Amino acid sequence: MCGIVAYIGTKNAYPILIKGLKRLEYRGYDSAGVALKVNGNTEIYKKKGKVSELENFCADKNTFSNIGIAHTRWATHGEPNDINAHPHRSMKGHFTIIHNGIIENYERLKKDLAAKNYSFYGETDSEILANLIEYMYVEDGMRSAEVAVRMALTRVVGAYGLVVMCNNEPNKLIAARKSSPLAIGLGEGEYYLASDATPIVEYTRNVVYLNDSDVAILTPDSFTLKTVQKDEEITPDVQRIEMSVGELEKNGFDHFMLKEIFDQPRTIADSFRGRIHPETKEVFLGGLNEVMPRIAEAKRIIIIACGTSWHAALIGEYLVEEYAQVPVEVEYASEYRYRRPIIREDDVVLAISQSGETADTLAAIRLAKEKGALVLGICNVVGSSIARETHAGIYTHAGVEIGVASTKAFTAQVTVLTLLAMRLARVHKAISDERYYNVINDLMAIPDKINLVLEKHEQIKQIAEKYKDNDNALYLGRGYLFPVALEGALKLKEISYIHAEGYAAGEMKHGPIALVDSNIPVVVVAAKDRYYEKVVSNIQEVKARKGNIIAVVTEGDSLLRDMVEDIMEIPKSDEVVTPLLAVVPLQLFAYYISVSRGCDVDQPRNLAKSVTVE
Ligand code: G6P
Repeated sequence: MCGIVAYIGTKNAYPILIKGLKRLEYRGYDSAGVALKVNGNTEIYKKKGKVSELENFCADKNTFSNIGIAHTRWATHGEPNDINAHPHRSMKGHFTIIHNGIIENYERLKKDLAAKNYSFYGETDSEILANLIEYMYVEDGMRSAEVAVRMALTRVVGAYGLVVMCNNEPNKLIAARKSSPLAIGLGEGEYYLASDATPIVEYTRNVVYLNDSDVAILTPDSFTLKTVQKDEEITPDVQRIEMSVGELEKNGFDHFMLKEIFDQPRTIADSFRGRIHPETKEVFLGGLNEVMPRIAEAKRIIIIACGTSWHAALIGEYLVEEYAQVPVEVEYASEYRYRRPIIREDDVVLAISQSGETADTLAAIRLAKEKGALVLGICNVVGSSIARETHAGIYTHAGVEIGVASTKAFTAQVTVLTLLAMRLARVHKAISDERYYNVINDLMAIPDKINLVLEKHEQIKQIAEKYKDNDNALYLGRGYLFPVALEGALKLKEISYIHAEGYAAGEMKHGPIALVDSNIPVVVVAAKDRYYEKVVSNIQEVKARKGNIIAVVTEGDSLLRDMVEDIMEIPKSDEVVTPLLAVVPLQLFAYYISVSRGCDVDQPRNLAKSVTVE
């Protein structure tokens, strides 16, 4: 993970770098640092903690420079402290680097460098890389920083998004990428580099996303692109990004997460907009057009994902199996990639990822491609690695999600999966017209219904207040609402550090019921669907053991209102789109508990938004 920002041009780099780091803090935030050329010297300032601490630390320093590199870290090798923070300087001081990713053979490289009398001040793999570059440079007669970087990278096994400054070539940045994203914004006589486009978008919309093995050599007025292996210039592919600066701001909300929860009526509409024919109501997914014949012939669909995206995948499984009658398997990418799975050429592998950069998901799609499967993606970040490496796909159009705990990306994924399932159901002629129109009409009605749920936020806040001091919570659901229970529990644990477990309600008897007493809140997602009666029985079982029940119920459910401690109401909807409504009170519940416990909602401890390490 980690976030990288760099600038070269004629402006003062420091404020650009700090602002950029703040935008990238979702990628990691245990320490931050910056390297600047001040009066001809390369000054490095770095600090444990968030970017604001680095800013305080730099307040009385001379930070004026037209070139600079900066980094916000999520520790992999070496504890988060000032020393292990980036940028890292090589032993003789020729090179200063920022690095995102993992150098897997760093132990070996470290040994080799130690044998050449190199010594190290910290514990990171990145410091080894800085020294490896320096070693190549010195061995090569200090001829060219670019050659040294390219030579060093041929010896590296692992992942890197890398930006390098060299003392002897002061007006130049060298950037490289393998498996860790790096974007370069093209300005007039200036370049902006960052792990994603969010720090760049307010300065320029013309961006080059580096491909694996690309090496970019930048001066204020030149951009040369080569690869690690070849000393030949290649033409960069300049793309235009459409994201607006407004999308990156909190818009008056206290936290990005709250803003993103409230964004959902719009983002869900954005996810289906233009994809449902206004009259015929047929679903049209432009990104899948060319591969639709092959999807239609698939013997099964394997969905791979991690975290919240995996929960969306489960809903996708239920939808596609029920309505398109195609077998679906849902896999954790981290398991799938290593367990030698059977993948056939008539399989469709569908990767779901908000960031489009999750290392395990990326590795799993590469595996599936090697085996000849058709590989599709459902991604939120346009131009992300997964979006580029899949054969075809569907963007979720949820806009930039900053809160580490995913909310609007989840509902956008579920929306897209519903569209996909309906499209496949039509292709396979497996759905009745009546069912089809019901689902589509109810999907289109979801944004307005979410607004009704959001209007009740004060009530949910009061319920959260009651339960904020509990140490444990159980979440139960059945059918389409089982993944919602999993997602609700994940939200609570991610941002409030309360231990929360999600379970299929029918599984409660096989273990979790042993936890139930008067101290544990049990959140039951109990909307009126085909499982309702069964869920009510589960609620009775919890009540009999004095558990406190908070139920998400369909409006007007007087039975449950009288039976449970607290209710959160959602409007009536077709059961297959009810997850989109039922998850919203659970997001708000987790949010308000987190706030009242004084937790860092947007940047919870130990987590990162984009997990680019396995
Ligand atoms: C991290 C994030 C989660 C996310 C998961 C998968 O753990 O904190 O919110 O669900 O990664 O990420 P992806 O970008 O692939 O959906």
